[in-house]
Amino acid sequence: MPVSELFKPLTLLHGPAMRNRFMLAPLTNQQSEADGTASEFDHHWMAQIAEGGYALAQTCATTVEAGGIAFARQLGIHSDAHLPGLTKLATSLRMGNTLSAVQLHHAGHRANPLLGGIPAPASSHTLPGVKALTTREVERIRDSFIAAALRAEKAGFNGVAAHGAFGWILSEFMSPYLNDRTDRYGGSVENRARLTLEVLEGIRRACGPDFQIGWRLSIERYGLQLEELREITAHILDRETIDYLDLALWDSAQIVREGRFQGKSMLSVFTDLPRKGVRVGTAGKVMSAQRCGQLLDEGCDFVLIGRASILQRDFPLQVQANPHFDSPRMPVPAGYLREGGLSERFINHMRGWQTFVVPGSL
Ligand SMILES: Cc1cc2nc3c(=O)[nH]c(=O)nc-3n(C[C@H](O)[C@H](O)[C@H](O)COP(=O)(O)O)c2cc1C
Repeated sequence: MPVSELFKPLTLLHGPAMRNRFMLAPLTNQQSEADGTASEFDHHWMAQIAEGGYALAQTCATTVEAGGIAFARQLGIHSDAHLPGLTKLATSLRMGNTLSAVQLHHAGHRANPLLGGIPAPASSHTLPGVKALTTREVERIRDSFIAAALRAEKAGFNGVAAHGAFGWILSEFMSPYLNDRTDRYGGSVENRARLTLEVLEGIRRACGPDFQIGWRLSIERYGLQLEELREITAHILDRETIDYLDLALWDSAQIVREGRFQGKSMLSVFTDLPRKGVRVGTAGKVMSAQRCGQLLDEGCDFVLIGRASILQRDFPLQVQANPHFDSPRMPVPAGYLREGGLSERFINHMRGWQTFVVPGSL
């Protein structure tokens, strides 16, 4: 599709429409204060994004409980003490005419005890010596997601996106490999999807009619089964439980290697589903204007920009100005990121991403 199609608005089931088809992907950058409050660096980054032409920006993965932490200097939304900083982030996005969503995150079995995290596995077999969460504890975590969404609403965010990817708690519970529970949160596909559904439906009930809900889903690793995830997604789309589905692919062109959908693009396995009023987008090496346009042809309603947004903070504006825009090539020297306004904390985080920063560059 012509690149100009990317600049057409997109209505969502709740709240204001996206003014174009660009969404900032959630990007952990480890630059908050040690207690999870937003730092001056978080504000600077979001202010840059607000000026960059995105229709909607998700925050980095943000902790819904102190014990659910995975990363040092992770942004938090588990306490009212986080509200002033979050309010400032939401405000600067609103000033830039960018819709906003907090990515709600609990690390589950991957919570980091060195940071005060309390590993919370679905199964007693995942971590040696750590017992599976009790049913009551699962319900508590569900309620923490909902409480965090209410906090996001109070801070002035347009919505939240539930982090259901990469083996963190919601995707952990989906996995037949990581979840061998015998209560109502384990066993059948329906039971393994229950935590996600209760979180999404609970947020819908608790928050106002304009509040927008996204759900991020990854398909690979952690014992996740494509066919099952498709079935769960079909249910969620059919019920219009969410406003948008964000597919966390590492390569949006990825082909399914085995099983019933072998040979099809992973994306098409999901874009082929009836979606009613729910919008569907993908991340994964979306680094040029042309690729963004192609993804609309491949059935996406919007695209998520991850690494390209760090390389070029105003990626959507660049695409608007030049239909042949291509992101700068990785790796880049640290100095390039610094000149672009990234903090040392963010740059150090990016040094940990293979092939992003030229090794040893200043
Ligand atoms: C630095 C960095 C931080 C990330 N942090 C998060 C995160 O907090 N939550 C999340 O769901 N995905 C996270 N991801 C995954 C991205 O949102 C995105 O799905 C992935 O990078 C693929 O898109 P890309 O090829 O455009 O970078 C992160 C990726 C990068 C590179």
